[in-house]
Amino acid sequence: MRRFLTLLCCCLPLWSVAADVELQHANIDSDDLAAQQRGFKAFQMHCASCHSTHFQRYQRVADDLKLSADELQQYMFTDAKVNGLIESAMSEEEASRWFGMAPPDLTLVSRVRGDDWIYTFLNSFYRDDKRPFGVNNRLLPYTAMPHVLQSEQGLATANFVEKDGKMVIESLSAPQNGSMTADEYAAMTKDITAYLSYAADPVKAKREAIGWWVMGYLGLFFLLAWLLKKEYWKDVH
Ligand code: HEC
Repeated sequence: MRRFLTLLCCCLPLWSVAADVELQHANIDSDDLAAQQRGFKAFQMHCASCHSTHFQRYQRVADDLKLSADELQQYMFTDAKVNGLIESAMSEEEASRWFGMAPPDLTLVSRVRGDDWIYTFLNSFYRDDKRPFGVNNRLLPYTAMPHVLQSEQGLATANFVEKDGKMVIESLSAPQNGSMTADEYAAMTKDITAYLSYAADPVKAKREAIGWWVMGYLGLFFLLAWLLKKEYWKDVH
């Protein structure tokens, strides 16, 4: 019991830090194949050097997202196999040496954290000269992840206010010196989120489509049953 209470006390401040940040809506549409394709490409270019998504295979992703063999090949690491699992370029020991921890596998992150969380995370980096890579993250304070999309987004600065004797972030300023506009960056991080959302639940779009057929079938069946009932009871009344 005591251990549980200690754990609870340790977790509460973390929870309250996280609760301060309102999540931004990614509005992911699980039918938007083009967004998932763009997201896969961006993920392989910017994220797969550190993060694996090794609960899925290249070929399955190519089939689901309708990527040609050539397109797929462009986004695979040279030693990867088409029917192999999607591993990251960096080994765990190497990553731990660089970041102090191994970057987590991201296949299921959308289920664990939610799409809005991922999207907000990618939009919450800000300049912090006290951190090893010169950046911090408003949603995941003291994160070990560098801002890998800094050359695209640019870098935001945090505006602090004092609240109950503590300095807290009130807002982030518009990022400076990125190669993308704010809209382009938002679109790219939405695409990456759409891809991770697909990765965590690859049959979602299919399941939803089947769901409509099932509803239609039930509706039709109900109508037939009702007509039949009317027919049978006609003579009784
Ligand atoms: C240079 C290596 C590196 C690259 C490239 C990288 N990350 Fe990370 N990422 C990390 C590390 C290290 C962590 C662990 C951070 C922590 O827990 O403090 C992390 C954590 C995360 C998390 C949080 C996972 C969780 O549940 O805690 C998400 C989401 C994430 N990364 C997404 C991405 C995306 C999307 C990209 C590509 C745009 C990317 N990362 C590129 C190193 C990297």
